[in-house]
Amino acid sequence: MRRALVVGNWKMNGTRDSVRQLLADLKAGLDVGKPVDVAVCAPFVFIPEVAEQLKGSAIAVGSQNVADQKSGAFTGEISPAMLVEFGVRYAIVGHSERRAVYGETDALVAARYAQAIEGGVIPILCVGETLEQRESGDTFKVVKEQLDAVLDKAGVQSLGKAVIAYAPVWAIGTGKTATSQQAQEVHEFIRGEIRKRDAAVAEKVQILYGGSVKADNAAELFAMADIDGGLIGGASLDPKAFLTICHAVG
Ligand code: 13P
Repeated sequence: MRRALVVGNWKMNGTRDSVRQLLADLKAGLDVGKPVDVAVCAPFVFIPEVAEQLKGSAIAVGSQNVADQKSGAFTGEISPAMLVEFGVRYAIVGHSERRAVYGETDALVAARYAQAIEGGVIPILCVGETLEQRESGDTFKVVKEQLDAVLDKAGVQSLGKAVIAYAPVWAIGTGKTATSQQAQEVHEFIRGEIRKRDAAVAEKVQILYGGSVKADNAAELFAMADIDGGLIGGASLDPKAFLTICHAVG
């Protein structure tokens, strides 16, 4: 059985005060008896304080990106080693906002993923199609290309230290959630593609769903066979909603 994982992606939101309050509420409200791992991906500048506040708690710290290089003249980038030094366990790579708004290519995403693996940070690799791609019947093709770019570079065994998130662009921040069947269909496809490379890895890797997951739809999504948890945007800023989502597993 794969353990469930729920990850909050705060995106570019929050203040020092709001972050402190949010974490206090999460620590107080999280039912540690539930079979779920929980993490929050904070903006880089908040990470040291977040890690400090979460020390000794069941909630792990993540970042929203990670450099594609080890160190050196790469202005604006944050290396895996820096993240590890501040207690970061996970790093999102290839989020659709990075791909669409900042032009990150499959090749760059694969390089970030590979650096994360090498540096001891667990990448959360995001894949997903746009509305246009879905409507023209290209969902599987797009997801496969995004996945293959990473697996061709880092190898299928790297998934033993990684997480995948299927986050269809049309469902992010739009209030339009994929139905549990629509999501399951793509999760099953992703696991099937991985199985072609290595069956044992395919059974073990956690595949999260991201895209307008809310308190009232999480349980139905998480009940699907190949959905192992969620990557939560908007609802992760609301402690009550996020906790309800975390507790919706199992
Ligand atoms: P929303 O939950 O706000 O749709 O965002 C999903 C997402 O982008 C997860 O990273």
